[in-house]
Amino acid sequence: MGRWLIISNRLPITIVKRENQLQFHASAGGLATGLGSFYKSYKSLWIGWPGITLEKIKGKRGEIEERILAENCYPIFLSQYDIENYYYGFCNKTLWPLFHYFTQYTTYSKNLREAYRRVNELFCKTVVKIANPDDIIWVHDYHLMLLPRLIRERLPEATIGFFLHIPFPSLEVFRLLPGRKEILNGLLGADLIGFHTYDYVLHFLASIRHLLGYEHSFGQIMAKGRTIKVDAFPMGIDYERFANAVDHKEVQREIKKIRKKVGESKIILSVCRLDYTKGVPERLEAFDLFLEMNPEYREKVSFVLVAVPSRTRVNQYMLLKRQVDELIGRINGKHGTIGWTPIWYIYGSLPFHRLVALYNIADVALVTPLRDGMNLIAKEFIASKRDGRGVLVLSEMTGAAKELGEAIMVNPNNREQVAEALKEALEMPEEDQIERNRIMQIRLQRYDVIRWANEFVDKLLDTKKAQRELGQRRLTQEMRNSLIDHYLKSKRRLILLDYDGTLIPFVVRPERARPDERLLELLRSLSYEPKNEVVIISGRDKATLENWFGGLNMGLVAEHGVWIKERGGKWEMIEPLKNDWKGEIRPILEIYVDRTPGAFIEEKEFSLVWHYRMADPELGEVRARELKDALLQLTVNLNLGVLEGNKVIEIKNIGINKGRAALRWIKKEKWGFILAIGDDWTDDDVFAVLPELAYSIKVGLGPSRARFNLDSIMDIRLLLEELGGRHASFRGL
Ligand code: UDP
Ligand code: G6P
Repeated sequence: MGRWLIISNRLPITIVKRENQLQFHASAGGLATGLGSFYKSYKSLWIGWPGITLEKIKGKRGEIEERILAENCYPIFLSQYDIENYYYGFCNKTLWPLFHYFTQYTTYSKNLREAYRRVNELFCKTVVKIANPDDIIWVHDYHLMLLPRLIRERLPEATIGFFLHIPFPSLEVFRLLPGRKEILNGLLGADLIGFHTYDYVLHFLASIRHLLGYEHSFGQIMAKGRTIKVDAFPMGIDYERFANAVDHKEVQREIKKIRKKVGESKIILSVCRLDYTKGVPERLEAFDLFLEMNPEYREKVSFVLVAVPSRTRVNQYMLLKRQVDELIGRINGKHGTIGWTPIWYIYGSLPFHRLVALYNIADVALVTPLRDGMNLIAKEFIASKRDGRGVLVLSEMTGAAKELGEAIMVNPNNREQVAEALKEALEMPEEDQIERNRIMQIRLQRYDVIRWANEFVDKLLDTKKAQRELGQRRLTQEMRNSLIDHYLKSKRRLILLDYDGTLIPFVVRPERARPDERLLELLRSLSYEPKNEVVIISGRDKATLENWFGGLNMGLVAEHGVWIKERGGKWEMIEPLKNDWKGEIRPILEIYVDRTPGAFIEEKEFSLVWHYRMADPELGEVRARELKDALLQLTVNLNLGVLEGNKVIEIKNIGINKGRAALRWIKKEKWGFILAIGDDWTDDDVFAVLPELAYSIKVGLGPSRARFNLDSIMDIRLLLEELGGRHASFRGL
């Protein structure tokens, strides 16, 4: 295995220029602190932006590069213009607010979008220059969502993972974004796409399905001839580092210093970047209310607020800063006394030992973002509590809430609830605190950031392996040649073809899937060749097949094998069947049509079909599952089968399937060459009854019993055209 190439907008090192001097600081934010804690323990290189404009480093580029490379990092320098339009612009005025459901703060601008595209291209150039074929390329976060695709276009075989550190919003919000398809396609360049929670996975899959039309099963998307895996990986922290920090002298010294200042007061702690998603004004207001409701706590509790400056050139952040300053002034003025300041406000970034000292000494951590992809502060606070004492009040809108269920959970918009939670936290018996924290600590210790990273990379390698295995079943040029060769040498050939999804794209309205002229010509060319016998084996009704193909020299199978028509013969039933059960089943299907806009019933002679391809995909799936359950109960004694196809539920007599119909032809004579092609599981019944040496091809990359896969209908038609074009008997007809 090669190196891990970690690619993110922000490097773990941020350069600041003060009085013409360059200073190197550790970066703030969960991505940098999380990955920063372990990347050096791997063979890795971290590619990203060191937080300073190109213009400010004139003449010092070499020095900076050297310093950064020594930290296993590789800098990408951005101009003032790009930082304005890409970083402050599209990233933090468009994507950040939108993905956190702050639609009212979201700016839509073509100019910003173009800057985003350009900077993603810039990252791509560097990656392509640096990457070796066996490297693992791991792209991070919303700044670089076009990058996986860009890299894939240049390095088709690369192993590419993507992880989003912020929420993926619901479809209703995501669809507001101009250029949304470009973003989704950008992400689909990766082999594995990871999110913090399963909710975000579902939101992403819903967007992929609605906006791009790609289906998925078990978190696997088949798109652009590849399988792409989507999964949840809740990011952990460097647990031991926080758990053991209390032993450090520096931390102990800091704890003593703080204790001296606050005396016996209880401490409520809030730490976050000063970002509107973190709900800082709401927290302050809840604390204000808490003091109003519980005057006995005056002078007995201090609220320490650490707000790390962030994205200070974006208007909303400036406004927030002013709002927070004013609010703190007002609350301190309202409740404070000569010897007591209710809120201690630190506007700046803390070094590790001071941060951990605060975690240690705090009685309560108030972590109440309005929306947060994960929130590592909550996890760090729990990990730092080695003696088990301390209470976490946590917003249910954070990804962390999914793992930290033992915390006091609150809705951050509910001021009264947060104020009550503060009281409950301050008064919680110690045994309770310890019991809750121990459970969370075990969980955090087990699933720490190293495990998170390893699980992601293992899954990425598994996905790559599965792709390769599927790729091995793809009909190679060599196998294709040998198939054609075999065809040409054989005196008797049987060709069994499914129709929808195999010869013609699967379309929303089935009546629009009429064969085009080129297809009819192809079928004519194959079926009038005397050595060939061609059969269309379809789920469609016999009237439609007769109408479209009745005039050709082919066998036809309708309703998945209920009806059979030999070449030149008449339609006959495969066995005597009943359809008196329809009266009982139809009303159930009608109920599900009423409950599912877009669904409809198709009635064939010996089967009933409930179609939902025109319904809302999610609702369709849910209703299909419900309907199937209801039908399975009803049909137990009716000798009926309930079959699930591509966006259909079909009810028909048991024992009827395409395979049984196919056997009629397979057994007819000793064929020198057999080829069967299909796209869904109903065609698997045909593949299952073929002799060993027959050629079977599935359209698309999904698993099946077929020996080979081909990517698309176009590939199938080209193959058949090549067979048809190899003999002249048809020409001139
Ligand atoms: N942090 C820090 N110094 C500070 C305050 C916070 O290094 O003064 C770190 C903190 O340890 C945590 C990260 O910043 O790892 C914040 O991550 P979180 O996921 O809570 O929020 P984000 O800023 O990524 O939205
Ligand atoms: C969040 C994002 C990170 C980002 C961090 C700090 O955690 O997910 O990608 O680095 O905030 O924000 P900044 O804009 O300073 O990089």
